[in-house]
Amino acid sequence: MKVIVLATLLVAAGIGQATAQIVARGEVKFNACKACHQVGDNARNAIGPTLNGLIGRKAGSVEGYGYSEAMKNSGITWTEADLAQYIYDPKAKVPGNKMAFGGLKDKQAVSDIIDYLHNFDKAPVKLHQ
Ligand code: HEC
Repeated sequence: MKVIVLATLLVAAGIGQATAQIVARGEVKFNACKACHQVGDNARNAIGPTLNGLIGRKAGSVEGYGYSEAMKNSGITWTEADLAQYIYDPKAKVPGNKMAFGGLKDKQAVSDIIDYLHNFDKAPVKLHQ
């Protein structure tokens, strides 16, 4: 909801409809993740960890979430490129990780989701290192 409002504001501010459309498209595509992941100001860990502040943080670092050893020891600090690979094929990118998701084989959708996740770069998340 918040994102739709943001998208509307961006259009209103004249930043451009193209940007707003990408954000909205990403939100729809994120439905594939929502069963397990939350984002936004009130996001909590669920079946999967919250994806707030994801880009630039160490994999397996959200406080209070029970990650697999594979994720904790992956040595990844999430960049857009890592995420594109992980979302496309989670088992190939982090062998042995416990995300029960086969991967999203639509590269445009993957990239839209990554754009969408940038909306939550500054949303609250507690990390342990
Ligand atoms: C069926 C539940 C489920 C679905 C659907 C799912 N995930 Fe996950 N995800 C998990 C679980 C569980 C983990 C923890 C993996 C581990 O610890 O091995 C995880 C971990 C992650 C991580 C690593 C986070 C971190 O803190 O290092 C990212 C990134 C991620 N998922 C992105 C996505 C995206 C994007 C989608 C949608 C395209 C998605 N996931 C769909 C369950 C899911």
